[in-house]
Amino acid sequence: MAEPLGVAVIGCGTVGTGVVKILTEQSGRLEQRSGRSIQLRRVVVRDPAKARGVTLPSGILGTDVAAAVRDPSVHVVIELMGGTTTAKQVVLDALSAGKHVITANKALLADAGAEVFAAARAAERAVCFEAAVAGGVPIIRALAESLTANQVTSIQAILNGTSNFILTAMADGGRSYAEALVEAQKLGYAEADPTLDVDGSDAAHKLAVLAQIAFGVAARPHEIERQGIDHIEAMDIRFAGELGYTIKLLAEAWASPAAGRNSTVALHVAPVMVRKTDMLAQVRGAYNAIQVIGDVVGETLYQGPGAGMMPTASSVVADLIDLAVGRAQKSFAAAKLWSGADRGFSIEPSEKVRSRFYLRLLVRDQPGVLADVCRALADEHISISSVIQHEAREDHPDQLVPLVIMTHYAATGHFRAAVKMIDTHPALGGKAVSYPVDD
Ligand code: NAP
Ligand code: HSE
Repeated sequence: MAEPLGVAVIGCGTVGTGVVKILTEQSGRLEQRSGRSIQLRRVVVRDPAKARGVTLPSGILGTDVAAAVRDPSVHVVIELMGGTTTAKQVVLDALSAGKHVITANKALLADAGAEVFAAARAAERAVCFEAAVAGGVPIIRALAESLTANQVTSIQAILNGTSNFILTAMADGGRSYAEALVEAQKLGYAEADPTLDVDGSDAAHKLAVLAQIAFGVAARPHEIERQGIDHIEAMDIRFAGELGYTIKLLAEAWASPAAGRNSTVALHVAPVMVRKTDMLAQVRGAYNAIQVIGDVVGETLYQGPGAGMMPTASSVVADLIDLAVGRAQKSFAAAKLWSGADRGFSIEPSEKVRSRFYLRLLVRDQPGVLADVCRALADEHISISSVIQHEAREDHPDQLVPLVIMTHYAATGHFRAAVKMIDTHPALGGKAVSYPVDD
C-alpha cells in the first residue's frame, strides 16, 4: 500500500469542522476509496479555545499556519479560512513548500486564480476546488471533465445558497429578509461577511470560476455585472407570484456566437423572474442548481445542497481522495486553467443580451403618466406585453400606486436606456424596479 497521505486543515469553522468530522469518523471508508491511509496531522485556527463541535486527535490543533504548511509530514494543505489576503499567502506558501492545495475559496480563485495556478504549475503541484462552487454539487468535475467534448453555450445557475434560502423563506414562509438572513447565518450558509452573499458578489466569484473552465476567460470580479437580493421588496415577490413567476438570484453566462474564434461571452448576476414551472424555480432553500447547455450534449442540470457544513465537506474530501489516488494531479495538468490559453472568447457587457423584463413603478395616478412610460419604452423599440395598475383610492388622489409592466424581448441596453428616461418622470415616487424575465 502507498504511504499515508498527511493533511493539514487551515481553518476549522463551518466547512473545516465538516472536513475534520469526515477525516476522523470515516477513515476506513477513505482508505478503502483511496488505497492508502489519509491522516489528519494539523488543524490551524485563530482561537484554539473555541468549541469546535468535533473531537480532534490530541496535539494537532494549533495557531501556527507557517509551521503547518512547512510540516514535512503534511502532503496536502486544505485552505478553509476564507478571505483573499492571508489565505492567498497560505496557498502560495503551501505550493512553494511542495504541498498540493485544496480550497473552497471562490473569492480567492476569482481574485487571484492566475497567480495561484501559475504557482501550482511552477511547483508541479495541483490546486483542487470542487467545494468552491455550489457546495456539494460536483459541477467543477462535470464542466472540467465530463463535458469536455462540448463547447458550453450557456450557463444559468443558482449559485448562492444564502440568497436562495432568503428568497424561498420570503416567498413561501412569509418571513422578512432580515429574519431569513439571520437564520441562514445560524445554519452556516452565509459567508463571514454576508454582504458578499446578498449583494451578488459570491455568485459572481463562482461564475468567474465556471467561466474560466467553460470559456477560458479570466473574468476579473469587476467585469461581472452584478445585482444582489439586498434591495428586493416583498411587493415584487408578490407581483412575481401573481404573474406566475418566482424571483431567483441567477448567475448567467451567454456565449455569442456559440463557438468559434472571436466569440464573446456575457456574464452577469441578477435577480431574475423565473416561471414557477421552470426547473430552476423549484430549487428551494440553500440548494443550488446549474443548467449548462453544451453544443453536443444539449441541456443538462446539476442540483444539490449548495452550502453548509457537510455538503461542502463532501466536495473537499472528494478532492482529497482524488489527490490520494493521483487523479487530481492529471486533471489539473490537463485542464490548463488560468494559463492564459486563448480559447477564442472575450468578455462583453450584457447590453446585447435579449430578455423580457418586469418593470415596476410607483406612480401618482395622473393623466398621461402611463402614456409617457409607454413612449419611453417605445422610443427604445420595446414592446409591452402586459400592464397591471391598481386603482388609487377615490379619497387619496395623490396616493402612489404600483404600475407593473411586462415587456416582450428587448436588448438589455435598450431597456436600461428606457428605464433611465422613465426614472426622470416627475410622477414617480422612487426609482423604477426592474428584473429580467426568463421565458
Ligand atoms: P468560517 O466558519 O468563518 O471558518 C473560518 C475558519 O478559519 C475559522 O476556524 C477561523 O478560526 C479560521 N481562520 C480565519 N482566519 C484565520 C487565520 N488568520 N489563522 C488561522 N485560522 C484562521 O468559514 P466557513 O464558512 O467554514 O468558510 C471557509 C471557506 O469555505 C470560505 O472560503 C468560504 O467562502 C468557503 N465556503 C463556505 C461554504 C459554507 O457553506 N460555509 C460553502 C462553500 C465554500 P476560528 O474558528 O478560531 O475563528
Ligand atoms: N455563502 C455561500 C452560499 C456558501 O451561501 O452559497 C457556499 O459557497
